[in-house]
Amino acid sequence: MALERTLSIIKPDAVAKNVIGEIYSRFEKAGLKVVAAKMKHLSKAEAEGFYAVHRERPFFNALVEFMISGPVMVQALEGEGAVLKNRELMGATNPKEAAAGTIRADFADSIDANAVHGSDSLENAAIEIAYFFPATDVYTR
Ligand code: PPS
Repeated sequence: MALERTLSIIKPDAVAKNVIGEIYSRFEKAGLKVVAAKMKHLSKAEAEGFYAVHRERPFFNALVEFMISGPVMVQALEGEGAVLKNRELMGATNPKEAAAGTIRADFADSIDANAVHGSDSLENAAIEIAYFFPATDVYTR
């Protein structure tokens, strides 16, 4: 499997629940390294830009309002097959459908407030990492 990078966001609900460390621990135990990180309170324009691909979907405004409701923790993760590995750790979008032991099953309350974001492809991962981090702020250790 190839070494990949993916973008992860710990969303306002999970930050408010004080589980950043527990989620980081899951990344580390799965062999994913944090290679860039920052806490950020997104502006409306930043959230709208990040989710622009979903602009026409019925939940777009709700998603943006939720993502600006409090600070988020944004990180780039690096590891073998990082994109899929992170999606597996996250679980299904709707926590009611998420497999036991996944981040969303354990920490998410609803499909609106679902604890984490993870890039869905290698191509989008590169775009999303560049959205938040200049190349000089991503470290390979
Ligand atoms: S996914 O995870 O991208 O495959 O899921 P998708 O269904 O395409 O959803 C895209 C993002 O929208 C969020 N979402 C919602 N937000 C609010 N309300 C509803 N009903 C809803 N359905 C989906 C979903 O969590 C995805 O956001 P991210 O940040 O990528 O997880």
